[in-house]
Amino acid sequence: MSEQPNAIDALTAAKPSPGEKYFPKFQVTEELTAEAAKLVALYPEGKEQSAVLPIIHMIQEKHGYICPEAMPWIAEMCKSTPIHVAGVVTFYPGIHTTCPGKYHFRVCRTIACALSGGEELLAYICGKIGVNPAELTDEHPMAVSPDGLWSIEPVECLANCGFGPNVMINETLYSQVTPKMIDKLISEYSKKD
Ligand code: FES
Repeated sequence: MSEQPNAIDALTAAKPSPGEKYFPKFQVTEELTAEAAKLVALYPEGKEQSAVLPIIHMIQEKHGYICPEAMPWIAEMCKSTPIHVAGVVTFYPGIHTTCPGKYHFRVCRTIACALSGGEELLAYICGKIGVNPAELTDEHPMAVSPDGLWSIEPVECLANCGFGPNVMINETLYSQVTPKMIDKLISEYSKKD
């Protein structure tokens, strides 16, 4: 009989990612614990669970994603449960359970951007960074380039609908993006490496 994965493993099955070389591996250190404790202390006694999301953001910023080993630790810090943390992690599309590339494309696929060329742009970027668009599935909506430098994810509205197609690279928004702009951006970002 095949072994059944537990609920957390099933929810958070992470794909190995070439992007991992660009982020430090998650590790519980005194410094990290102190940082998380500061976030927990912002909430009243008995409401420590409210710090789950802020701690998730803090870890994703440092480590690129929320690995399965981080979840029980977050739960312990927040007097919560690993399954609750896994539920929060998997609820929000902006929280990654697979490590992205060093530079992460978010391409808006909502109607206004789709009508102004967003779908073609998604396929174009995939081709440029060496990713097969078929890798982008509902279960794993992110794909990472073989060198780990780039990743791509179709996302919903980026709140700039009148100026599509819209694309983000990490935290920077680019509007009315064309294939030519993508060539230039990829070349500029690659030089930062
Ligand atoms: S539809 Fe793309 S930003 Fe709103």
